[in-house]
Amino acid sequence: MQSPKAFTITAHGATLPAIGYGTMLLPERPAELVAHAIRSGYRAIDTARKYGTEERVGEGIRASGIARGELFVTTKVTEDNAREADFMRSVETSLKTLGLDYVDLLLVHWPQPKVPFAETLGALVKAKRGGFARHIGVSNFTLAMLDEAVHVCPEPLVTNQIEYHAYLPQDRMIAALKKYGMILTAYCPVARGELLTDPVIVAIAKAHGKTEAQVALRWLIQQPMVAAVPRALTEAHIEQNLDIFDFSLTETEMRDVSALRTRKLRIADPPERAPKWDDEDVGA
Ligand SMILES: NC(=O)c1ccc[n+]([C@@H]2O[C@H](COP(=O)([O-])OP(=O)(O)OC[C@H]3O[C@@H](n4cnc5c(N)ncnc54)[C@H](OP(=O)(O)O)[C@@H]3O)[C@@H](O)[C@H]2O)c1
Repeated sequence: MQSPKAFTITAHGATLPAIGYGTMLLPERPAELVAHAIRSGYRAIDTARKYGTEERVGEGIRASGIARGELFVTTKVTEDNAREADFMRSVETSLKTLGLDYVDLLLVHWPQPKVPFAETLGALVKAKRGGFARHIGVSNFTLAMLDEAVHVCPEPLVTNQIEYHAYLPQDRMIAALKKYGMILTAYCPVARGELLTDPVIVAIAKAHGKTEAQVALRWLIQQPMVAAVPRALTEAHIEQNLDIFDFSLTETEMRDVSALRTRKLRIADPPERAPKWDDEDVGA
């Protein structure tokens, strides 16, 4: 496998690996899986206070034998901690639980409409300026929220981490992020497996001698300024999800996969915290 370090995306001084290991919903063995991912070549690990996996992510990092400075660790602050004092406490708890002095990227996990963005983003910036996070960003922000966040935030936001895969178009968000020089980090990048039986994906995978998951991920990271954080619990899946840098999709294949967007499948939509999403016009 080629060095995954070659496949990075930069934005506002942050160098983000195009593929990171997502750690939501890991079962009993997350520390071993995280260590396996890092030993397989992953350099980015995505966790969150909400996932309850920070402790195991820290253990996995230490068990991997790879130096901290080689890794790009992301964690997130929940919408319950959007007030400044709660936010800072959450960041400190995350670092303590991870066993790290800093994270590479700190995200506001979900927007909290009851707290002014200026307060939450002010706390995010405070965490960065205090050395707790090297870079900052948001997650699950809509177009209007992203505009507001960029305007009230005195430090650059590096990414908006959102659901993105071939069944869910994000053209307008991609255009907005481009305007702000930000990365789209795609979660649910293989649509939790839904994409893997699609005949279009199956045919392209066959043509390249690759798996369906590799095609789904390649389609994402072949787009400018798009990174992805697939989760996998089996070691073979972990390894193959990073092994996508030795082939590319043709323009026609990219278009064929993009055409699957008409399904408009949104997977992560928790009613208690999801904003009113921007609808994409998927055409006729
Ligand atoms: N910011 C947010 O609000 C947010 C929300 C959701 C997720 N996330 C992040 O995004 C990460 C990924 O999202 P996700 O876990 O929801 O969905 P996902 O990565 O699209 O799907 C994970 C599922 O796909 C399967 N899979 C992965 N690679 C595969 C492969 N090569 N072959 C066959 N099956 C494969 C996995 O199976 P196996 O387990 O059997 O390998 C697992 O069941 C999360 O872990 C989390 O870090 C963030």
